[in-house]
Amino acid sequence: MNSAPVRAIDPFGLRASSALRGVLFGTAASINNLRKDIDGGQYNSFIKKNYHVIEPENDFKPMKLWRGINNYSWIDCDWLLGSTPNSTGWAQQNGMQIRGHTLVWAQDKYTPDWLLKQESSLSSDKVKLLLSDYIHAVVGRYRSKVLWWDVVNEAVEDSKNNSRPFNLRDCFWYRKLGQDFVKYAFMFAHQADPQAQLYYNDYNNEDMGSKSSRVLELIKWVRSQGATIHGVGMQWHIRISRTVNPGDQHYQNAQRLIDNDFDFMVTELDVAIPINAGNPRDPNDLERQGRLYRALLKYALHFSPRCRALITWGFTDRYSWVPAFYNNTEGAALPSDSNYQLKPAYMQMQEELARVLPDGIYRLAPKSQPDKCLSTYVNGNVSRVQLESGGCNSAHQKWNISWLDNGTYRLSSQNANASALTAYNVTAKTGGVQTNNWSSNVNQEWVLSSYGNNVFRFRPRNAWWRVFALHDTSNVGIVDFVQNDALRWILTKV
Ligand code: XIL
Repeated sequence: MNSAPVRAIDPFGLRASSALRGVLFGTAASINNLRKDIDGGQYNSFIKKNYHVIEPENDFKPMKLWRGINNYSWIDCDWLLGSTPNSTGWAQQNGMQIRGHTLVWAQDKYTPDWLLKQESSLSSDKVKLLLSDYIHAVVGRYRSKVLWWDVVNEAVEDSKNNSRPFNLRDCFWYRKLGQDFVKYAFMFAHQADPQAQLYYNDYNNEDMGSKSSRVLELIKWVRSQGATIHGVGMQWHIRISRTVNPGDQHYQNAQRLIDNDFDFMVTELDVAIPINAGNPRDPNDLERQGRLYRALLKYALHFSPRCRALITWGFTDRYSWVPAFYNNTEGAALPSDSNYQLKPAYMQMQEELARVLPDGIYRLAPKSQPDKCLSTYVNGNVSRVQLESGGCNSAHQKWNISWLDNGTYRLSSQNANASALTAYNVTAKTGGVQTNNWSSNVNQEWVLSSYGNNVFRFRPRNAWWRVFALHDTSNVGIVDFVQNDALRWILTKV
């Protein structure tokens, strides 16, 4: 017997299912890789199938774009977005939203060398002008093509207490402009593109520690100065030892941002695990990692729409910054492996996204005969599931639908004598349905897919190519999937 867990198979990918749930999925990507359509097309096709949002990993950073005063290197970003207001690039042509990262990276090691070299000869007024020039040039060039900008990245220092306001880092911008550099950056970005959503982004600001409190004070101050700021990016570069649960510090921190009227999102998620020669030291870590990815997704869904997106810092272990960051002792941090094979992390997220319906009591009417409903009839050994007409208000015409936390749902009849909707002969030409006592059998676990407007289809968990449908005008059962109204059910909450 193969004891591997049976998993829901979603032919649509994360892109479609995440959109249904209201949280956009995104990934960091390299424009150069997109452009070269590397790895036999696998890189681009994985992105198109799974993501709505691309965040270029390095291409929008000042070190890449800003070559000197009035000297910019647009070539890659133009390819992605088009070089003029009316032209398009790969992003628009492929229905991708863009997250721009980052206008100001408040660390000297990520500030252009040519700028640092002039530090002693530049006056503060001149530096303010340069900041304005740069932000207007970049944000203005791609006006209305970038949905979100990280305006300032990593400005707050981790250490306990330095003497600077908000525990800001000692960096070029601070030395020249004081704390005002943060405010100016947001003001200039808003002037350059009033529609863009503007974020402050950082790491280690996910929990209720001193850093996230300082970040909150900083962004409240920016807003109090009259600048526009919409939200906070939390990077979430984490390790396998992290735990994330409803009500914990991470949830409290997110709620605290919302209470202060800020949006937020997960901007750079990866989950590092100990590796040896590139492979996980403990294979069980892959399942643990999967559960952690799923916990993050639940957190994002919990706070939707104030949590706008969930973005991972890449999607294949083939291209990830993590091993280099940890000197090759940790890695394997992303949802697919170095051959683009889906890891438990991907499957766990996809299962969680399959939760398309809130738990509750429902009536089920066939789309083709909306005046009828699915009902139960039980008498001794006879257990029937059939269609009935009439008001559909009796208990035997109602179903308690509940999420099983494994990608599937259980449907329990409200008929006192009946129990859970159960499929049988699922692979026969016409399989059947009846009600049976709940026994955690796979034939009692149903995968739902949404067509929108309260219309759904159901399939048995272990037969993804089959579907629960009318197989003639009055009988229901399990048949091969064919795209027609016979498999569409209108679910109405009672
Ligand atoms: C990293 C990139 O992934 C690397 O390729 C690059 O060499 C350095 O930067 N926080 C951030 C990201 O805000 O920009 C960083 O990205 C990872 C940490």
